[in-house]
Amino acid sequence: MKKKKALFLSFVMAVAMAFSLALSSPATSSDAMAEGESLLQNRCTSCHGAGKITRAKKDRNGWERTVRRMEQKGVQLTDAERTLLLNYLATSYGK
Ligand code: HEC
Repeated sequence: MKKKKALFLSFVMAVAMAFSLALSSPATSSDAMAEGESLLQNRCTSCHGAGKITRAKKDRNGWERTVRRMEQKGVQLTDAERTLLLNYLATSYGK
């Protein structure tokens, strides 16, 4: 009986931990979203307005293709920055 209760408790703990991990995952945390937004403002608005981007609706693949194309035009992004920006774009302007 006692053993079962302990097992149940550790199951509950595991679920709770997985849940809090999911909530703070880098793809959706509000910090990561804020960083993605500032990357957009700082790296993507020198040639055209932000409106060109915020009016668009693309799935993640579409955004990836677009960002790579913009990089060929001169946008500088590290791999980590590209990931943050893509997560932000796909979440905020996805379809
Ligand atoms: C070096 C100048 C430059 C920078 C910086 C730039 N773009 Fe662009 N962008 C362009 C030009 C020129 C066009 C129009 C021609 C074209 O679509 O290739 C364009 C068009 C677009 C379009 C509309 C066309 C489409 O494919 O939907 C989107 C969306 C876009 N850019 C997103 C971005 C994003 C996101 C960034 C930042 C990562 C960015 N741009 C930074 C030059 C730039």
